[in-house]
Amino acid sequence: MNPAPSSNPVFVALDTTDPDYARELAERVRVHVGGLKLGLEFFSAHGPDGVRPFIELGLPVFLDLKYHDIPNTVAGACRAAASLGVSILNVHAQGGAAMMRAAVEAAKSVSPATQVIAVTMLTSLGDEDLLSLGLAPPVGDQVLRLASLARQSGLDGVVCSAHEIARLRKELGPDFLLVVPGIRPAGAALGDQRRVMGPAEARDAGASILVIGRPITGAADPALAARDIAQSLGISAI
Ligand code: C5P
Repeated sequence: MNPAPSSNPVFVALDTTDPDYARELAERVRVHVGGLKLGLEFFSAHGPDGVRPFIELGLPVFLDLKYHDIPNTVAGACRAAASLGVSILNVHAQGGAAMMRAAVEAAKSVSPATQVIAVTMLTSLGDEDLLSLGLAPPVGDQVLRLASLARQSGLDGVVCSAHEIARLRKELGPDFLLVVPGIRPAGAALGDQRRVMGPAEARDAGASILVIGRPITGAADPALAARDIAQSLGISAI
């Protein structure tokens, strides 16, 4: 069900609602990446039946749906997602410890190899947003607090920004998964990402998985772009 993790840390984000285009992209880049990420956009349009063909491709799939609800509901959602055969799924750490424990228990009850990770603070939120939510800034301290809670609750890791890798790796130890978006190879357009890091730099700082979308999917030749990123990490196609 769950393919063995690859040594290639790059998961390509297939952010589209067009299943044929997503499938074509996945097939073109598959030998140069370690996994695929499907998110809310794709899932809202195509549901579990849309996800299954990507699992059948044989690459690990990260289903990025960021569950956040009462423990019983999140457990049900995690059980359903894990039984699809996804390798990674995620919840909001702000759902609390009981919700996170319920998520892990439910996912692992149907698929022990599925890894459950948490989103801490959305990177779109700044210190002023925290104040308006009644939370104490700075964002970095909230991220560490929620990541520690995720680890205590039995989660396998967190999604974090590149600039949080070093602190979280130091505080949370070598085995906690740090899944990092906002990665840009030298010369790539930033798009709406503000604080970015290069793939090798992020890996060397302690990232476990690099989530990369537009630098691959928006390239004139996605396979070549994915190959160049893999090569910059010292990985050649299988
Ligand atoms: O195209 P790009 O490389 O910016 O895509 C990054 C992916 O990571 C997108 O799927 C985006 O939704 C996701 N992501 C992010 N920032 C976060 C969490 C997830 O960019 N804080």
